[in-house]
Amino acid sequence: VTEVAHPVEEADLPPLEIDDPLYATDPQAVIARARQHGRFAASRRGVEVLAHDDVMKLLLDNRLHAQDTRVWQRYGAQERLSAFIQDGLLSAMQGERHSRIRRIFLAAFRARHIEDQRPLMRSVAEDLIADWPASGGIDFVTAFTLPYPMRVLCQIVGIPTADIPEFSAAATQLHLLSQSPLEPGFPAIEKALSTLWDYCLGLVAIRRDQPSEDAISALIAAQETEGRITDDELVWNIVNLIFAGQDTTRYQLASAIRAIDEQPGLWDRLHADPSSIPGICEETLRIYPVTNFVVRIPQEDFVYEGVRFAKGRRVILNFQAASRDPEHFGDPAGFSPRSLNRGPETYDVPFGLGSHFCLGAALAKAEIQEAVTVLVSRFSRFAVTGPSHMTTPAGMLYGPENLPVDFTRR
Ligand code: HEM
Repeated sequence: VTEVAHPVEEADLPPLEIDDPLYATDPQAVIARARQHGRFAASRRGVEVLAHDDVMKLLLDNRLHAQDTRVWQRYGAQERLSAFIQDGLLSAMQGERHSRIRRIFLAAFRARHIEDQRPLMRSVAEDLIADWPASGGIDFVTAFTLPYPMRVLCQIVGIPTADIPEFSAAATQLHLLSQSPLEPGFPAIEKALSTLWDYCLGLVAIRRDQPSEDAISALIAAQETEGRITDDELVWNIVNLIFAGQDTTRYQLASAIRAIDEQPGLWDRLHADPSSIPGICEETLRIYPVTNFVVRIPQEDFVYEGVRFAKGRRVILNFQAASRDPEHFGDPAGFSPRSLNRGPETYDVPFGLGSHFCLGAALAKAEIQEAVTVLVSRFSRFAVTGPSHMTTPAGMLYGPENLPVDFTRR
């Protein structure tokens, strides 16, 4: 280990001004300002890591752990939330418990299995646009990106589509978990989690009696043969899938449509050459990443690239900054198709890396690609007609709450 004589302390880092009003309207401008002073900055969130390559390295650094339950409990998490975080929130788990549960759930989301689900995604997309008129205007979020990921996920997991209304309001409430500050949302979070718990508990009981071809039945079978996860862990992790797979894909898909719309002629080119859709969708993940950052906590004091990471202090791996890092991308503001395979210019961080790598990455990518494929094939014009109301960029997830679109069918 090389010790640096005088490491830079958090307090001496240049600021990333996330409370500057400009950050709410143009976060990239504020990030660019911080980047002029170096690859690291500080904000009230913690030490901000801005460079793509540092984010990649630190995602793999086992001296950094995810934020665990104790941190959330310090904020005052109540009974249901504590249980959910304890038994279901995979991204907050560490070590043996994390890998034990992750291994069982991973089986349901393998890329090969997801490939088989593409016709299902297409049919959900076709179904959602079926009763749109020949031309008109619509809020694409309400009409499409809100129901689409939930319907796809539920069919894969084995939740009957007819049951969705029973818990969808509760599932939507879970967006409160990515808000800052968290405390005002606690009562609504408790209520939403009880609804989801009751629903998923009932579903697991039904599938135990009558197994089917779905992921829940496979998880129950894995639990019975391997006996490695408790009943509570099983149910809370099903709740977690509903939580982790909903807002992320919803925002990212709406952002993808905006990013495509911003490129003149791209819609027509995608129609002429549908094989270019995956590379274009990949680039939309970089242009408008939904995950602003992930949080890590140093388990010991250490110096990284001349900066002191103090034990217990928050480290923010800033994906939004990494996605426009000029050191990594020749033309960070430009838009060009991006390879899905790792390479010097690929954007590697949107789904994380290492032990917490997104369980739903293959699913989310396929969902976005299939939605774009269906829309491009059905509409000759699909034009964004105004600004979106965005989530606050200082929070964990960044994306449009609405997207006004004018469309014309082919
Ligand atoms: C565009 C959509 C999505 C994005 C950008 C995204 C992003 C991420 C990221 C960055 C992480 C890592 C968090 C960390 O390292 O702390 C993660 C973890 C996770 N994601 Fe996703 N995600 C998306 C969709 C989904 C979907 C559809 C599912 C549902 C199956 C899902 C389930 C999960 C789970 C369970 C974890 C925790 C994995 C673990 O800690 O072992 N995600 N996601």
